[in-house]
Amino acid sequence: MKIVVIGGTGLVGSEIVKQLRPEHEVIAVGKTSGDLQVDIEDKAALEALFAQIGPVDAILSAAGDGVMGPFDAAEDHAYERALNSKIMGQVHLTRVGQKYLTAGGSITLTSGAAAKHPMPQTAAISMGAAAIDAFVATVALELKDNKRINAVSLSLVKEAAEKFDMDSAGLAPVAKVAEVYCNSALGGATGQPLHVAA
Ligand SMILES: NC(=O)c1ccc[n+]([C@@H]2O[C@H](COP(=O)([O-])OP(=O)(O)OC[C@H]3O[C@@H](n4cnc5c(N)ncnc54)[C@H](OP(=O)(O)O)[C@@H]3O)[C@@H](O)[C@H]2O)c1
Repeated sequence: MKIVVIGGTGLVGSEIVKQLRPEHEVIAVGKTSGDLQVDIEDKAALEALFAQIGPVDAILSAAGDGVMGPFDAAEDHAYERALNSKIMGQVHLTRVGQKYLTAGGSITLTSGAAAKHPMPQTAAISMGAAAIDAFVATVALELKDNKRINAVSLSLVKEAAEKFDMDSAGLAPVAKVAEVYCNSALGGATGQPLHVAA
């Protein structure tokens, strides 16, 4: 299969690339790094990216900013990031990418456990995650030619917590998180938030 991983140079994305690469032709795309570059907030840039890549069998997104902070913070930054990056960036990716998806192909986006498990300081993150879950459930009903779409609903990744000296007990390691993305691309699920077991 020919597979594009947006955010394929990040913590989660690079592990997805590592797990898929032995058996598939994988193109790792970052904003500033990777085999190719794109900014998912720029729809025209996504059109140019897919015109360059051509037909693909799976598109995975492990990109989209999430900023923590109090819901009534003076700055709108966290909400702007959720709207422009996590939500509209992945919406642009889906709307452009589906045109290049082969029959039976799949799109896998990133949402987040915060959509269903509220925690203080995550108002913008939970809003973005819930929007992506709802988007995926609806788009799955409209896609044709057996094309599929899911979202991986992840929590804080063990290695990310360790990097910031946070308690990582009970958190899923990145290898397990990446497995859920790969199962979405290679399995049969559609319209689902796919949860990550610790
Ligand atoms: N890590 C966690 O614990 C955790 C928990 C919950 C949710 N998430 C979500 O999971 C996703 C991946 O997280 P991560 O920790 O792997 O992130 P990361 O290590 O910061 O990597 C982000 C990746 O996305 C790319 N990227 C960033 N902005 C982009 C844009 N506008 N257009 C295209 N590519 C862009 C980066 O490319 P460059 O490096 O070239 O800029 C990089 O490849 C994110 O949506 C994050 O919010 C992560």
